[in-house]
Amino acid sequence: MQRLLGDFLLQRLQQDSDGTLQQRLFRSLRNAILDGVLAPKTRLPASRDLAKEIKVSRNTVLSTYEQLQAQGYVDARTGQGTWVAEHLPEQFLSKSNENQIDNKQKNNLQNNHLSQRGSYLIGYSSASPYQWGAFVPGAPDVTEFPHHIFSRIQNKLSKEPDISRLIYSNAGGCLELRQALVEYLRISRSVQCDVDQIIITEGTHQAIDLVSRTLTDIGDEVWIEDPAYWGARNILRINGVNLRALPVDQDGILPYFEPQHPPKLIFVTPSHQYPLGAHLSLARRKQLIDLARQHNSWIVEDDYDSEFRFSGQPYPSLQGLEPDAPVIYMGTFSKTIYPALRIGYLVVPKRLYSPLRIAASELYRGGHLLDQKVLAEFIREGHYEAHIRRMRLLYGKRHAYLVNLIQKHLGQGFLHEYNTAAGLHLILKLPSDYDDVLIASQALDRGVKVRALSQYFIKNYSTRQKGLLLGFACVNEQEILVAFGILLQCLREAGVETT
Ligand SMILES: Cc1ncc(COP(=O)(O)O)c(C=O)c1O
Repeated sequence: MQRLLGDFLLQRLQQDSDGTLQQRLFRSLRNAILDGVLAPKTRLPASRDLAKEIKVSRNTVLSTYEQLQAQGYVDARTGQGTWVAEHLPEQFLSKSNENQIDNKQKNNLQNNHLSQRGSYLIGYSSASPYQWGAFVPGAPDVTEFPHHIFSRIQNKLSKEPDISRLIYSNAGGCLELRQALVEYLRISRSVQCDVDQIIITEGTHQAIDLVSRTLTDIGDEVWIEDPAYWGARNILRINGVNLRALPVDQDGILPYFEPQHPPKLIFVTPSHQYPLGAHLSLARRKQLIDLARQHNSWIVEDDYDSEFRFSGQPYPSLQGLEPDAPVIYMGTFSKTIYPALRIGYLVVPKRLYSPLRIAASELYRGGHLLDQKVLAEFIREGHYEAHIRRMRLLYGKRHAYLVNLIQKHLGQGFLHEYNTAAGLHLILKLPSDYDDVLIASQALDRGVKVRALSQYFIKNYSTRQKGLLLGFACVNEQEILVAFGILLQCLREAGVETT
């Protein structure tokens, strides 16, 4: 096939006249992979050879291979070559990925009844069917929330609701909630903003969608951490950007300093890198801001669980580090209150406020203003801070309990070195020759919900770190103990030595 590939691509390139040469080459190669013309594990020609054969520059082929790799269609090993991936993104429909997609849906995908965008979205879907129990990562203990206080405020406010709370909102959300957030974010996160920089959203997912649709075009370069939150990755992907996955180390994301293709957006989780847990160092923060200023990029800061640091002070936000930093800050109440509330927010630079507010109204209309007002009142009366303080203590204890179990039965080496005493999950690290996807699937069969770390990586199948994400926040110590016992059994069966 290798020798015929050049002819095949030349024909495809002639038939497709949309976009740049690189975009056309990317589509041709991706379709060849999806149609089975290039089977899994097939080695692609060296970039220099292919460039010569189809008469394009070598850079065009290199960028295309890179894009295919970033999107999971090929694997590359430096100096060795590029192969069609064994598992294509569209095949991430397996039980191990917890996607309980039925045969009818699979047929729909295969029969191309879905758009390419739709197929991508379903193909990459990663949400667990029931996000509760040991060890669902990122789930807060929703039973501990003071529902009686919230419902008292709710009852009071819903008796005679103001008309303005019952109609669409195109003003960026409830004013009182935005006012409460200005104060809260200034004190707790060092975020510097006015009320006219805050847009209330229905959570971070919607905020990412709004930002990517409004600030990028199809094919634009967007940087994301590798590994990354699958939610951000999927939303960006279906919005058609060219996702470039950058590695992270103990200081957070490792940016390119002289990028060939400057990014429009740089997605980061500075307080607590998701999922590994590193904190973006001060030096890297400054470098990232300089880089964004230089290339007119926006840094998107996902500050999803920074309230939960169990020792020392929380790290301040990236947004507040420098005046007028090109940073879009995203926050959520999913971790501090409960996910079904679906309230989050964006803090945007002043010049983006009006366009993003209008875009939010055009795309989603605005609603749930009564709930937002209840939340504003809940914050104003001091219950929010009290709840966070209480949860920080509780989660801190659960975190320490789980860490202790891991140290005792597996050893310190099984705790990921970037883990800090923070957040709602930790990483149980596995040696690289273990199949974390299989272990996660076997644990799930026995009712223990863990996620495989390798599935959060975007690039380089062969070098992905192996491990398990363990959420410790939503269940008590007794439940942690029982679930950990089951997990240990799965690990033993996989050949891990335990004590
Ligand atoms: C990294 C990250 N960001 C944001 C969120 C929250 O998203 P949302 O506000 O849409 O619930 C999550 C949820 O798990 C997350 O893991």
